[in-house]
Amino acid sequence: MLKITLLENIHPVASTLFRQHGFDLIQTSAGALEGQALRDVLHDTHVLGIRSKTTIPADLFELAPNLLAVGCFCIGTDQVDLQAAQAKGISVFNAPYANTRSVAELVLGQIIMLMRRIPEKDRAAHRGEWHKAVDGACEVRGKVLGIVGYGHIGTQLSVLAESIGMRVIFYDILDKLALGNAQKVLSLDELLALSDIVSLHVPATPETENMMDAVALKKMKPNSFLINASRGLVVDLNALAHSLKEKHLSGAAIDVFPLEPANKGDIFSSPLQNLSNVILTPHIGGSTLEAQENIAVDVADKLLRYIQHGSTAGSVNMPQITLSAVSKHVRFRHIHRNVPGVLAKINDIFSSRNLNIAAQYLQTNDQCGYVVIESDSAFDKVNDPVSVLNDLHKIEGTIRAW
Ligand code: NAI
Repeated sequence: MLKITLLENIHPVASTLFRQHGFDLIQTSAGALEGQALRDVLHDTHVLGIRSKTTIPADLFELAPNLLAVGCFCIGTDQVDLQAAQAKGISVFNAPYANTRSVAELVLGQIIMLMRRIPEKDRAAHRGEWHKAVDGACEVRGKVLGIVGYGHIGTQLSVLAESIGMRVIFYDILDKLALGNAQKVLSLDELLALSDIVSLHVPATPETENMMDAVALKKMKPNSFLINASRGLVVDLNALAHSLKEKHLSGAAIDVFPLEPANKGDIFSSPLQNLSNVILTPHIGGSTLEAQENIAVDVADKLLRYIQHGSTAGSVNMPQITLSAVSKHVRFRHIHRNVPGVLAKINDIFSSRNLNIAAQYLQTNDQCGYVVIESDSAFDKVNDPVSVLNDLHKIEGTIRAW
């Protein structure tokens, strides 16, 4: 029976899913573990679920003889040494897109708030001032939303924005299928020149760093708005502050910053503080209760598919093989170093025992290979699956077989 350990207050839907699939040995903990407490857990658990506060460096994998998989119930996986996990045949999963909808909804709200100039009216009302004025407040219907980065979040936003009557254009370095009535433009410059609101949804790469610098900001339409809920380094905040102060831009909503405080309650400072019609939020684009639940369902599902069926779909450190849940054959899984001859030796084991291979799935990366073999032969006392596994273990280069 596999032992599952879930740390850091992972949403309870994860435990429920494991139980529904017959895994009852579930240990949960509210906080992150470190030191001896973490070593003790790693020593005898088969599946470990963590969030962002539990760190697993390379040496800890040496102390985890039974560990099959680590589930990072969050977006990032920086807290785990992925190469070391791979070298031990431990698959790591995360939930990179479980909060997509949450980000898209926040941006949609920000678009309306900025175009109605709510931030300054809200602040005035809190100060006890009655600023009842049109003041350039606009409906969003018919306005052009320019989306930079038409990936998971950009496309969701595209659909939501059209549903309230906006016209959507987008720019992406890849050739992306336009959803609904959205229209692709061929350059960032074209998008900046046409958009009433620009929303950034690109990853952090050398190309996107300072993508919105003083030069790019000048290319935006006069009185337009900028939203960044992607990564902090994409916008030059000093240049943005300058552009807002000189009234070239009419407002901005920023959720991500080049330097973000580590802990809740820490001091935060930004050149955008106290500028009118600016919404500043502490990197909470994806932070909703629904996203937490989606993350728990997504990662638990990937872990279950792996431990039950061998499917590595969604793994961040292992070659990916997607397998169906049901197979009438006996399934063997073999993780090995990516060196010549391993597959031939695996096949020799089956043919020398006169066992038929009904299906074989192989994927490799630079360092390792993962092969799943299904046999439809009848197993007997001589050719029992355990003795086949023993032979598979003996192949040079084997990291794990089960
Ligand atoms: P994604 O990978 O699905 O989409 C990114 C898109 O940007 C891709 O289509 C890609 O081709 C495109 N792209 C890359 N470089 C580009 C460039 N130089 N110019 C134009 N397009 C470019 O990513 P997803 O999930 O949509 O996330 C987008 C961003 O949002 C990421 O930076 C992510 O870290 C961030 N994010 C922020 C959250 C928050 O709480 N504020 C929560 C979740 C994600």
